[in-house]
This record gives sequence, C-alpha cells and structure tokens, in this order.
Amino acid sequence: MDVLEAFQSYEQDALAAISAASTSEEIEAVRIEFLGKKKGRLKTLQAEVGKAAPEDRPVVGKKFNEVKVGVEEALNAKKQELDKPKAALSAIDITLPGIAPQLGKTHPLTQTIDDFKELMGRLGFEVVDGPEIEDEHHNFVALNIPEDHPARDPLENFYLATANIAGGSEGPLLLRSQTSTVQIRVMSERKPPVRIVSVGRVYRPDTIDATHSCMFHQMEGLMVGDDVTMAQLKSVLSIFARSYLGEGVEIRFRPSFFPFTEPSVEVDMRWGDDWLEVGGAGMVDPNVLKAVGYDPEEVSGFAFGLGIERFCMQRHQITDIRRFYENDVRFLEQF
Ligand code: PHE
Repeated sequence: MDVLEAFQSYEQDALAAISAASTSEEIEAVRIEFLGKKKGRLKTLQAEVGKAAPEDRPVVGKKFNEVKVGVEEALNAKKQELDKPKAALSAIDITLPGIAPQLGKTHPLTQTIDDFKELMGRLGFEVVDGPEIEDEHHNFVALNIPEDHPARDPLENFYLATANIAGGSEGPLLLRSQTSTVQIRVMSERKPPVRIVSVGRVYRPDTIDATHSCMFHQMEGLMVGDDVTMAQLKSVLSIFARSYLGEGVEIRFRPSFFPFTEPSVEVDMRWGDDWLEVGGAGMVDPNVLKAVGYDPEEVSGFAFGLGIERFCMQRHQITDIRRFYENDVRFLEQF
C-alpha cells in the first residue's frame, strides 16, 4: 500500500471511531487503538514513514505529523465533551439540604365534612347527595314555604337567568338556598323509614362579614319513621356536637319557626361571651310529609340543617369565615 493511502485510511478510521464514541471509556479505547504508544496503529504508520525513500522522507514525515496532530486534537475535543457532564455532576454538593416539595393538604372544610359524614354514619345515617341548582318546588313549595314568604324574595336568592331545561319540573331555577331540598328529593323517591344526611354548598346573597358568606356549607339530616320524636332529635344533635367539639361543648335549643318543621328550634353554640347560631331543626311539618306522599298519621320525622363552617370555626378557633375561601397557604397549612 502506498504510504499516503495508509495515512488516509488511518485518519478516516480514527475520525470515524472518535465521533462514534459516546462514553469516556469508549474514547479511551479509541485513543489506545489509534494513538497508543505500544501497539497503536500510529506505530504501524510510523514504520511506513521509515520505509519511504530518503528523498521523500521530509514530505512523508511532515504529513505524518499533520495526521497525528489532527487525530489527537479531534480526540481531545471529544474527550472534553464526554467528560463535561461528570465535571458538572461533581460540582453538586450532595451534603446540602434539599428543597422539599410542597405537599398539598386536605382543606379544613373538607376535613370537617369528612368528619361529619363519619360521625353521622356511626349514628346510622346514610350519606346522600343533591343538586346545587334547584327549582322552586324542591327549594320552597314542597317545603311548605308559601309564595309570599320573605325567604322566596328574589333579593334573598340567587335566581338563574337561564331557562329550566333540566326536565321534570317547570319554572325558574335558582342556586339552592338550603340543603333542605334534599329532604324532598329523598322522601319523594323512598318509602319510610328514612335516615339520611346530605352535605353541600348553599347560596344566599348575604352581606359578607366575619360570620356570613354568600356561599357556605350545610349538613342536612332527616330521620322519618314510626314514633320519631323531638327527644331523639335533641340527643342526636347533642351526641354529634359533643363528638365533634368535645364533651365541654355548650349548645342550646331555642324555640323558632321554619315553615317545614313544627315545632322548630334554632341551635346555638357558645361563642365567647355570646351565642352563635349554628343551625335550625325541628319535627318535619305534616304538610311536608303530605307533599311527598307520606301519611302524617303513620309516620313522624325530625330534620336539621347545620352550618359546617361555623362548627369548624368553633373547633379551630377561627374568627373569620372568609379565611376558608381565600386559599392563603399560610392559613391552610395550619390544618
Ligand atoms: N333549612 C334551614 C336553614 O337553612 C335549616 C333547617 C333544616 C331547619 C331542617 C329545620 C329543619 O336555615
């Protein structure tokens, strides 16, 4: 083989091997093969130079050096490139404390709702759900709330400006103002005995302050069957309040009025030197039982509706209901 051809094939093979190498180990193997002092292909090439005619030697020698330097340079450049990630890695101080990822948490209201469902489940109440968009039948009519009752005032409710396409009933739709709607839905579908709770959002255009919000959560409870009594209502609510807030909790039942219960009470809880209303309750009004096809001579029932936020505020000493909806992590991470 002609010596110049030998240079060329050496150079081609070396450059191809360099560019194919993808690890530091591989590039080192390439170095040994092509530039190794002992058995490398450069040695063989050097022997070729020695065989050249004396007058050709300066040219051949010069060419030899050029090829050698070219391969060395290409190899070093590649080596540097492959060694680089390692250098960057070793610059990381693994003894430094890490950056902890921020973990999400269950919102305090969701925690309270879960606790409520669990407690009421233990008392034998089944958890059911109901829609937040309602019609007047479920929110008012079947609950014995007459047309001229102030609770039906459009200014006291969030009526929707959309047509009622839900089917089943006619008339305008509104965001439910109370979870008592679920009483009607359940009783219309089932025969007594009934023992349910339902937790969800309700909407009222109240003026927002530390204890009021336009949207809040209620837990509705309903028990209908033979000989259900006011005494049972009071003991269920007392057991529930003590289970959630501890034995020391002070609650009182204050005579009140709701169109859908008779007699009716408001449930208050000790709030500093004062009392805070946390819900309403009473014996299901015979008119409501009739509206769902139950016979008031045969069955009786009690119902209650409790404000979830206010219970949670009492338990955690939260003094402003607005904290629940602001999503300030400094507040949320405390629960
Ligand atoms: N629905 C009533 C309210 O929102 C509470 C209530 C529920 C009262 C069940 C009596 C019985 O104020």
